[in-house]
Amino acid sequence: MTKTQNFAVLGLQWGDEGKGKIVNFLSPNFHATCRFQGGHNAGHTLIVNGKKLILHLLPSSICEKDALSLIGKGVVLSPNDLFEEMSEANTFLEGVEDRLKISSACVLILDHHKKFDQCREKSNSFKTIGTTGRGIGPAYEDKVGRRAIRLVDCFYEKILEEKLRENLDFYNFMFNKLFSVEEVSFQETFEKALSYGERLRPMTKDISKLIIEMNNDGKKVLFEGAQGALLDVDNGTYPYVTSSNSSAAGIASGSGLGPLSVINILGIAKAYTTRVGEGPMPTELFDDIGIHIAEKGGEVGATTGRPRRCGWFDAVAMKKVIQSNSIKSLCITKLDVFDGMESVKICDSYDNSDEFFEESLNLDHVKPQYIELSGWKKPIHGLKTLDDFPKEAIEFISKIEEVCGVSVDIISTGPERESTIFKNEVI
Ligand code: IMP
Repeated sequence: MTKTQNFAVLGLQWGDEGKGKIVNFLSPNFHATCRFQGGHNAGHTLIVNGKKLILHLLPSSICEKDALSLIGKGVVLSPNDLFEEMSEANTFLEGVEDRLKISSACVLILDHHKKFDQCREKSNSFKTIGTTGRGIGPAYEDKVGRRAIRLVDCFYEKILEEKLRENLDFYNFMFNKLFSVEEVSFQETFEKALSYGERLRPMTKDISKLIIEMNNDGKKVLFEGAQGALLDVDNGTYPYVTSSNSSAAGIASGSGLGPLSVINILGIAKAYTTRVGEGPMPTELFDDIGIHIAEKGGEVGATTGRPRRCGWFDAVAMKKVIQSNSIKSLCITKLDVFDGMESVKICDSYDNSDEFFEESLNLDHVKPQYIELSGWKKPIHGLKTLDDFPKEAIEFISKIEEVCGVSVDIISTGPERESTIFKNEVI
């Protein structure tokens, strides 16, 4: 890959690909890590000095004492949840507050967004999406509906009052007329929002300006995707998606930079596929193999604790997201989950599909076709070099490269930082 200043790490499936570990691994090479979309619906599990840290909103670089952690304007920010996460991180990291910089243009998630999200999911009048119930969708709807409360609004009492009145008029109408639940108090919400502004103001910065200044000083920034490309609102399995551009498209808009600011993008994919929530998943397994993968891979959502649906690697969907995300390099995680299995499969085509289904990723009716490969007896769990790999595991990786048309440059063989093999240099 060409060397450039900035770099991005994106999940290419339905989230939970193991981005956190890879970002955490790469972040010492960067001066800052930037989140550009999503909110605290993400769940990055990191093992730091043998201890488990689950991050939802904080960029993974928060573990790097010399790096900045940036939250760009494309992120929807729940101040309450951020404060909780910061206090958890503070129990074993130093200077969290000093290293965190937040864009004043972030749209806020307040209590009524969560309430709305949960009411809608429960209501019989709406399709159940299986959201995280954290208010992500309603906050993004506010943004495109031009009624959002942004962090900057909380710095100015008069502006906040005016905007919040309009915002709550909308929500209280819906709570009252549509869901028949209690309305939300203006005064309480107003006071809370003002106090959030006060506490967050010292951490607030013009993030795009900061990144440009860093780049001008020769400092590199790592962009950290949340969720996965198949959950992207424009390029994913709509309507079973999150409400942001979780693919490469979101990097520029979510950080306020130009589209060429990040050229090198590393795509992360599991050796198999998982999904939480509703929506099509062509390679889903409903048999003992699916149960085995779920158990061995510990496939439980880091944010909601929901069990993840498991299936074989879907190279058809992968090829699509490789194109829509300009991916030239892949990292395959959790390959060790296949240790000891008789055979493994890769879906390389769909039956019952056509170009419209594929363009819209309307995967409800497609039937996956598979290539079957031999499994491996000798475990690869924790291996640190390819020299020790069984030939069947190498063949599996080569087949992914062949079918997807990109090189697999990193292989992760376990949750620890050290269990990461660089087949080729990526930064
Ligand atoms: P929302 O983002 O809470 O609105 O949920 C929309 C869809 O995205 C649901 O299917 C969620 O399960 C899924 N989702 C949101 N965040 C994540 C994540 O970090 N990992 C996996 N799925 C996610």
